[in-house]
Amino acid sequence: MRRLVHYIASTLDGFIAGPDGADPTGPDGFWPIPEDYLRHLVAEYPETLPGPARQALSVTAAGTHFDTVLEGRRSYGIGLAAGVTDAYPHLRHLVFSRTLTETPAPAVELVADDPVATVRQLKQQDGKDIWLLGGGELAGSLYTEIDTLILKVAPMTIGNGIPLFSRKAAFDPRTWTLTDHTVLKSSAMILTYTRATG
Ligand SMILES: NC(=O)c1ccc[n+]([C@@H]2O[C@H](COP(=O)([O-])OP(=O)(O)OC[C@H]3O[C@@H](n4cnc5c(N)ncnc54)[C@H](OP(=O)(O)O)[C@@H]3O)[C@@H](O)[C@H]2O)c1
Repeated sequence: MRRLVHYIASTLDGFIAGPDGADPTGPDGFWPIPEDYLRHLVAEYPETLPGPARQALSVTAAGTHFDTVLEGRRSYGIGLAAGVTDAYPHLRHLVFSRTLTETPAPAVELVADDPVATVRQLKQQDGKDIWLLGGGELAGSLYTEIDTLILKVAPMTIGNGIPLFSRKAAFDPRTWTLTDHTVLKSSAMILTYTRATG
């Protein structure tokens, strides 16, 4: 069965963005992208690069992990504000929102239904794994459904920001088994964990 994989960049202290909810890796961002980190993404997860980045880096590989991406409306809104209506035209792209009524790009599917029910349906369908892009609120809504957690851990702390799972998520301790890891020269780590309990 396809798995729901939360593949996301996190600081050492568990944040995915600063408190302002802006793109931390954007032109005004504080989150460095080391060269070896980018090389790793291009080689191992090319499908997770947004279309404009794929174009700039001449990446055409379909990738082997994901054929579907799920994101929350606020994360989607960052690309939208920059004029990118579909950052992942090479994937099936679902955006969860109860407020957006019209899709800005024909290929982007707006979903107002319960994310858990949607993910359970997607898991029954054939295909590659499903990439949960984030942000923290959507990931909090889907906490119970995540099978694999791939943390791209940046060697930085920021003290405060948007946590990996929204503070609205239920308290629900789970344990995970480390199944793969890559430590880069730049001190970034890519840690793959499979859910052990729950
Ligand atoms: N580090 C990384 O790799 C990474 C990856 C992704 C995002 N981010 C960062 O994450 C931040 C955004 O995260 P966020 O937590 O503020 O927002 P988010 O999870 O991206 O989006 C929240 C929105 O998604 C919709 N949503 C969430 N749960 C839902 C549910 N149960 N049913 C239907 N719709 C639901 C709602 O949209 P409506 O209000 O329209 O109903 C909600 O306001 C940004 O700063 C972004 O840069 C970082």
